[in-house]
Amino acid sequence: MAEQDMLLSPAGVEALRTALTRARFTSNGIADRLGPQATGGVARNDFRAALKATEDRDPLATLIRVFICDQTEPEAVVAAALAPLDLAEAVEGGLLERHGDGVRAGVDLEPYGDEWWVLADVPASARPGRPLHSEHVLGIGGATQTLIGATVRRPVGTALDLGTGSGVQALHLSTHARSVTATDVSPRALRFAATTAALNGQDWELLRGDMVAPVAGRRFDLVVSNPPFVVGPGTTTHVYRDSGRVGDAIGSELAAAAPALLTEGGTMQYLANWVHVAGEQWDERVADWFAGTGLDAWVIQREVADPMAYVNLWLTDVGEAADPQRMAAWLDWFDAHKVEAIGFGIISLRRGGHADPVVRVEDLRQRVEPPMGDQIGAWFDRQDFLQVRDPEALLAERYRAAEGLQLRQEATLGDEGWAVDRQVLAMPHGLRWTEEIDPLVLALVGGADGRLPLRDQLALLAVAHDVAPDELAEAAGPIVAHLVERGIIEPVAD
Ligand SMILES: C[S@@+](CC[C@H](N)C(=O)[O-])C[C@H]1O[C@@H](n2cnc3c(N)ncnc32)[C@H](O)[C@@H]1O
Repeated sequence: MAEQDMLLSPAGVEALRTALTRARFTSNGIADRLGPQATGGVARNDFRAALKATEDRDPLATLIRVFICDQTEPEAVVAAALAPLDLAEAVEGGLLERHGDGVRAGVDLEPYGDEWWVLADVPASARPGRPLHSEHVLGIGGATQTLIGATVRRPVGTALDLGTGSGVQALHLSTHARSVTATDVSPRALRFAATTAALNGQDWELLRGDMVAPVAGRRFDLVVSNPPFVVGPGTTTHVYRDSGRVGDAIGSELAAAAPALLTEGGTMQYLANWVHVAGEQWDERVADWFAGTGLDAWVIQREVADPMAYVNLWLTDVGEAADPQRMAAWLDWFDAHKVEAIGFGIISLRRGGHADPVVRVEDLRQRVEPPMGDQIGAWFDRQDFLQVRDPEALLAERYRAAEGLQLRQEATLGDEGWAVDRQVLAMPHGLRWTEEIDPLVLALVGGADGRLPLRDQLALLAVAHDVAPDELAEAAGPIVAHLVERGIIEPVAD
């Protein structure tokens, strides 16, 4: 990266790295220094104990006070903590800003993991009343973490992060991709990403432009994006949030772009909002985004918000919660377009090369066992298994019920004892699916111990339940496929 493309000069970044490493300004270093009580307080934005623990203002204490507790500290003390980085360069680059009779953080400089630092803008909540820069660079928020957790982390050759911002997704990609490309439309964001990369000793290809435009004609093994997915009239005030597209068009646009972006077997994962329109099925509407793409698609809806809560959330995010005009205009747009609710979730696409790709759109709002990316990877593996087997071949396999599978029953006590009203299978691990099932399927799952091919197991069940074996086998096909897809029963390798 050329010098002007970072917040500091290359020598300045190196000096900053030296200062941070020397002071042990890392997650573990800070936790060791503050102890559990003050660390817990910091997580709740209660800095009292942390400030007490850092009163002696050695370099680590000073860095904690400035970058974690958002304090203004005397220039000479901060200069000593950041040495060999020159304080004037830190101010010039925006890392620090003069405030009162000292200096304070100009950016959010966070240790991340025990090896990394991430540079982003100071969030709106930390400086109430100060308007956010239109090219505000997002720190590590909830959506950022959702994508980090949902990404399938398998070794790949080439990876792309669309809308990189601070560069945090690219940092994670660098742990399992041989090369990382990251794009952003915002020159400011690219300056932050380039600085994050250099500070962590990384070498990424950084490109500027609108969504996939900078990588037109190129393909990647893995593409991730936490795009500006917020839905509304298409007005752009803050580039981290607003795509300039009307409604949820950014989600469908990325879906349409995916086939040309992915290598054979490649995966693309992105976050999106989608509108629930009165009189339309939200899941069918979203499924339409993938029709004709030739990609396997799994859309997981994790949250649903009503328009008022949604607008409030995003106005608060930029510190504009008290702007009734903005709120009214946004809500009017939702009314005019019959938007009843807004869904949020994770879209995972894979170029599996199957003749009849699967498109699954479902609600999955339960708490899941992290990391979700492992579950998503396994789901695509199971699709590979299912897509090369017709119903006959499916029944020829042996299956074992998922480990720890639970049965939950609801029953009513009557004259003849307990009468079962409802039986629910519950997976205690992974995605923690729960499914209401009938006694026959329950028997099928209960008997799946990996010994008999399913067809033989079904023949025994047919006798026990007095049904014709062929009819049972025919009816079982789609049920078995569903149970396999969700990992409730797993094929046993020979
Ligand atoms: C929600 S932030 C995500 C930042 C970071 N990747 C993360 O996960 O925290 C969205 C990013 O997309 C960038 N962006 C906005 N519009 C874009 C566009 N049309 N093309 C490319 N990037 C865009 C923004 O500058 C911002 O950095």
